[in-house]
Amino acid sequence: MADGLNGKDILIQGAAAADLEEIFTLERSSFPRPWSREQLVEEFQCPAAILLVARLDGCLAGYLASRCCLDEAELLKIAVHPRKRCLGIGSALLDRLARQLSRRQVKRLFLEVRAGNLPARELYLARGFSVIARRRGYYSDNGEDALVMAAELRKETYSP
Ligand SMILES: CC(C)(COP(=O)(O)OP(=O)(O)OC[C@H]1O[C@@H](n2cnc3c(N)ncnc32)[C@H](O)[C@@H]1OP(=O)(O)O)[C@@H](O)C(=O)NCCC(=O)NCCS
Repeated sequence: MADGLNGKDILIQGAAAADLEEIFTLERSSFPRPWSREQLVEEFQCPAAILLVARLDGCLAGYLASRCCLDEAELLKIAVHPRKRCLGIGSALLDRLARQLSRRQVKRLFLEVRAGNLPARELYLARGFSVIARRRGYYSDNGEDALVMAAELRKETYSP
């Protein structure tokens, strides 16, 4: 399915095994501690996982990974290609995830974000998340705090 994006069409769909290598490359360009290929394969095999990819002009522009448990879900990863950021792709991925989760009767979506990751924090705030807790010194690589954020997946509070 295609969503409008500054005049371009972005295709967002469930990730397929053929996307693995591109996702792995995006992981390594996006995170200080990227998932290994084996961790990605585990996500592909996990029945509770939802993996979405965004393609722009046929190339992988972004992806996200989430896991559901009953009526709650966690956003584990979201990344947009460094040259494709600030075009609305992260928002489009989150909106698609929220719609998919709502259809599964999931009511609340949680995530953790580094306190210093301002682009991600702004994205989440703009998509209806709020900070519900701070985990001090959570990240062992630099001692940074983690913020726990949550969004209610009802129409009146989540604004796709
Ligand atoms: C966080 C990330 C996924 C955002 O993706 P994106 O496609 O650039 O986000 P969008 O274009 O949809 O931006 C949506 C909103 O987020 C905020 N935002 C995004 N990038 C921003 C930046 N660099 N500075 C400030 N705000 C920013 C803005 O409020 C923006 O809305 P606006 O365009 O109306 O101003 C992307 O920066 C990324 O891949 N970062 C590296 C990986 C990462 O940190 N993932 C999150 C881990 S918790």
